[in-house]
Amino acid sequence: MDKPSVWSSNRFWRRSATWVTGVSAVLLILLTFDSMSQMTMGTEQDIKNKVDKRIPSPVVINYKIDYQLNRKRGHEVPIIGGMDANGNSKYEEKEKFFGRDDYSEKEARELIHLGKLTIQAKNCMDCHTLLGNGAYYAPDLTKAWLDPNWETLAPAYGGKEYAIAAFLQNPPAMAMHERKMPNLGITKEEAKAVVAYLKFMSAIDTNGFPRNFGKIKGAVDAWK
Ligand code: HEC
Repeated sequence: MDKPSVWSSNRFWRRSATWVTGVSAVLLILLTFDSMSQMTMGTEQDIKNKVDKRIPSPVVINYKIDYQLNRKRGHEVPIIGGMDANGNSKYEEKEKFFGRDDYSEKEARELIHLGKLTIQAKNCMDCHTLLGNGAYYAPDLTKAWLDPNWETLAPAYGGKEYAIAAFLQNPPAMAMHERKMPNLGITKEEAKAVVAYLKFMSAIDTNGFPRNFGKIKGAVDAWK
């Protein structure tokens, strides 16, 4: 009798299946640990030690945040506290946020948490996306803090954060486009917290998401 082909051997397939499952499991575990370290929020100490974290500590709201093209990576990245000659964050230049640039980690965390609760309670994702999740009626809010529009309005309101807070408390009064955001009854306290959340979110390194944000004139123009 001829020797049976390896392709019809039960033993061969059983072994292959075992190996493929085993190797995939090991890879998945390694990748999970790699993602975990990238997804872990940084601390105030990281910022003091100039350690880059994809998700920086909440105290990032004490710093100036820019968005600059990184040629090596081929997209914009958040620059926190000024940029050094190599295009990296300096973590030095502070910026007043509602009159202060000394929020403690606890204070900043609580403020951003209230912002998150407000965003959930008012269902902003009915119209907007956050980190790409949500609806497509209105612009993605991930980098809304960096919308050049707020720079333009800042002088009249005494700062970018005040301009965004004013908008959030009465959007129709400051409408920038035909498609308007309704008044959602956001209080002054909630507006401040939402702005903190937006500022914090703009400092997250999202691998350039949303695409082309820095190249369009104001994020709100994206859907026009
Ligand atoms: C019913 C739909 C709707 C809901 C709900 C909504 N928005 Fe909006 N939002 C809009 C539209 C439309 C615009 C563009 C308005 C304009 O330019 O005048 C906008 C604009 C914005 C902007 C300016 C964006 C930029 O890039 O400058 C911010 C910030 C914002 N919304 C935050 C929020 C937050 C926070 C919530 C929840 C508390 C929320 N929105 C809920 C429709 C909505």
